Amino acid sequence: MSPQPVAPSEVVDRLRAAGCVFAEDEARLLVTAAVTPADLERLVVQRTSGLPLEQVLGWVEFCGLRIIVKPRVFVPRRRTGLLVKRAAPLIRPGAVVVDLCCGTGAVGAVLLTGEPTLTLYAVDIDPSATACAKENIAPLGGTALTGDLFAPLPPGQLGRVDLVVANAPYVPTDAIARMPPEARLHEARVALDGGPDGLEVQRRLVAAAGDWLAPGGHLLVETSAGQAPHTAAIFARHGLTPRVVHSRKLDATVVTGTA
Ligand SMILES: C[S@@+](CC[C@H](N)C(=O)[O-])C[C@H]1O[C@@H](n2cnc3c(N)ncnc32)[C@H](O)[C@@H]1O
Repeated sequence: MSPQPVAPSEVVDRLRAAGCVFAEDEARLLVTAAVTPADLERLVVQRTSGLPLEQVLGWVEFCGLRIIVKPRVFVPRRRTGLLVKRAAPLIRPGAVVVDLCCGTGAVGAVLLTGEPTLTLYAVDIDPSATACAKENIAPLGGTALTGDLFAPLPPGQLGRVDLVVANAPYVPTDAIARMPPEARLHEARVALDGGPDGLEVQRRLVAAAGDWLAPGGHLLVETSAGQAPHTAAIFARHGLTPRVVHSRKLDATVVTGTA
């Protein structure tokens, strides 16, 4: 027997009872997304069982774009808008840009939309992420590659990359247990875990960036306010003069460096 149609007020009540803070807004989005009452019931059950809203809907709005989100793939956060904001002015027509640890490819998609002449590579170690990134960036002309950090890039790009943007995992392993369940339970561990001090992936990517950056090329890495001095020290150790930029509005921190 198919489920009974669910009235929107009922949806709001069920979402609220499940602890959704913005129950009215979420109900509106779920009602709009559902094609049939059975569909709506399925979406409400998914959301009330704790799946992140964006994974239920299959999309998130990021810097004005609708980005496709797949199950287990990291949901782009609003704070990562700072990475985009700092990267965009550094990009020249025809530049080679790498969105490292790309997840859905949201950062690269926004940069490519702003400058369609880019050669954009989006790299992630998780094949689910690169499958999702491909859907977001291939229609814009970008390329999604699966592998560890810079390893899957074409060797011909060694020393020719103008800009690397990276929101690599930076949560210290022990802190994952204190993250909201939506992240902890529904995003891949590899998307969150930055090792004992949260800086392990950053260390490896900054160390490798020098081989790939063109002279004058830029590296931009999202980090936390508390970790920023350490991220900056890693940049300095590898010959990149660091600059820490913080946005209070977005609660976001980015370290930039030039080769
Ligand atoms: C915090 S998420 C950020 C995703 C995306 N950049 C964003 O801001 O929405 C980190 C991403 O890094 C990827 N990742 C982790 N270790 C990696 C590695 N060694 N090489 C490439 N990607 C990696 C994860 O699979 C995950 O998609």
